[in-house]
Amino acid sequence: MVKIAPSILSADFVNLERDITRAAADRADWLHVDVMDGLFVPNISIGLPVVAAIKRVSPLPLDVHLMIDRPLRYVERFCEAGAGLLTVHVEADTEENTRRALSVIRERGVIPALCIKPKTPAEAVLPFLEQCGMILMMTVEPGFGGQSFMRELLPKLEQLRAYIDRYQPDCYLEVDGGINENTALEVRRSGANVLVAGSSYFGAPDRAAFVQALKREMP
Ligand code: DX5
Ligand code: ZN
Repeated sequence: MVKIAPSILSADFVNLERDITRAAADRADWLHVDVMDGLFVPNISIGLPVVAAIKRVSPLPLDVHLMIDRPLRYVERFCEAGAGLLTVHVEADTEENTRRALSVIRERGVIPALCIKPKTPAEAVLPFLEQCGMILMMTVEPGFGGQSFMRELLPKLEQLRAYIDRYQPDCYLEVDGGINENTALEVRRSGANVLVAGSSYFGAPDRAAFVQALKREMP
């Protein structure tokens, strides 16, 4: 069954606990938490103390997406702060440091995940795939919520699905950026089984119905 991870980047930060509790009541599966450093991406969001505070009130596992330069410096602390899954970007460091980051995450009992930006080819995940519990494919340029889905990336998603089926069948395949009721169907057909939804979830008139619609049987 497909999993839905609302991205709190589009939540009401003044009423974060209320929005998080509601996401659980709406039958979302994970809470997607975007961490940005103003360097790897041109935006700054939240950091360690906020992730730790969210962990204290969230009934849902935290799917923490690190959009930060050289994440190896911080992965241990994000595991301690309460990440259930922790994602680093392949573009953010050397191959050796990315390997080390993924293994530190796994040693801490957290699911290690690797993310690729739109211009990064699917093959970039191959050297790391056996270390990963999830691959995250960006379907917008990372940095901001509310952007349009890049449909031209669907063949890359199919390629990632084929790699996962062949080399690491239990690995989740998540997409992030521009997911709504229509694009959800397209990415599910192309092999995604975890969908991040920020602006579409928080902007939905009935968020529970929106989650249900994203999870509905495929036609
Ligand atoms: C963008 C973030 C996303 C963002 C998605 O860099 O990684 O998680 O919140 O927002 P929507 O769903 O509005 O495209
Ligand atoms: Zn994200």
